Amino acid sequence: MTAEPLERTLDHDGHPGEPTAFPGPRSPSLRAARESDLPELRRLDEEVFQEVAYPAFLLRQLYDMYADHLLVLDEGEGRLRGYVLAATTAVNRDSWILGLCVTRNRRRHGLGRELMTEVLARLRRDGIEQVRLTVEPANRAAILLYHSLGFRPEPPDHGLRPDYFGPGQHRQIMYLRLSRNH
Ligand SMILES: CC(C)(COP(=O)(O)OP(=O)(O)OC[C@H]1O[C@@H](n2cnc3c(N)ncnc32)[C@H](O)[C@@H]1OP(=O)(O)O)[C@@H](O)C(=O)NCCC(=O)NCCS
Repeated sequence: MTAEPLERTLDHDGHPGEPTAFPGPRSPSLRAARESDLPELRRLDEEVFQEVAYPAFLLRQLYDMYADHLLVLDEGEGRLRGYVLAATTAVNRDSWILGLCVTRNRRRHGLGRELMTEVLARLRRDGIEQVRLTVEPANRAAILLYHSLGFRPEPPDHGLRPDYFGPGQHRQIMYLRLSRNH
């Protein structure tokens, strides 16, 4: 499926503004990923997630399946500064956030929130009723972001799932129910 183009430039406060033909290096535009983004997306994913980054073949196939919900922050000249990926399922109109990151030197400018807000809007538009995600229990920044967007720990045990990704790799599961109104 081809990603529908979405070109929205973020203003200085990180809020969506009008599209512009000249996004400067300090004004990343939020748009749907394209096939040609895959090498840079892989580089970014490795930069942020290192040994737990997606292998190239998996990233490729995630793009093949979920391009509609794979959004990137494009700083121009082929540089991506962040991405979010949501995977959807027709069963229960369910979805999972499978990736979210902003490159280190662009954090705390509202970009992570912009990525999440836009992907949640798209999921809602597409009739998805629930979003879930896993987060490292010590990842305070991500947990605060998700909490501020309405995500809550999924029962039981406050969402805590020991050894979820293998021995010692604990995760917390958070969920958000989507409605058409908010
Ligand atoms: C999580 C991440 C995407 C946030 O991106 P960001 O652009 O820095 O986030 P924003 O500037 O939009 O911040 C949104 C909210 O997140 C929380 N937050 C983000 N960074 C924080 C930090 N270092 N400390 C405390 N809270 C933080 C705050 O609640 C913030 O809202 P506020 O600015 O109104 O206080 C980014 O830190 C990141 O890429 N981390 C590494 C990858 C990662 O952990 N991904 C999530 C995997 S589950």
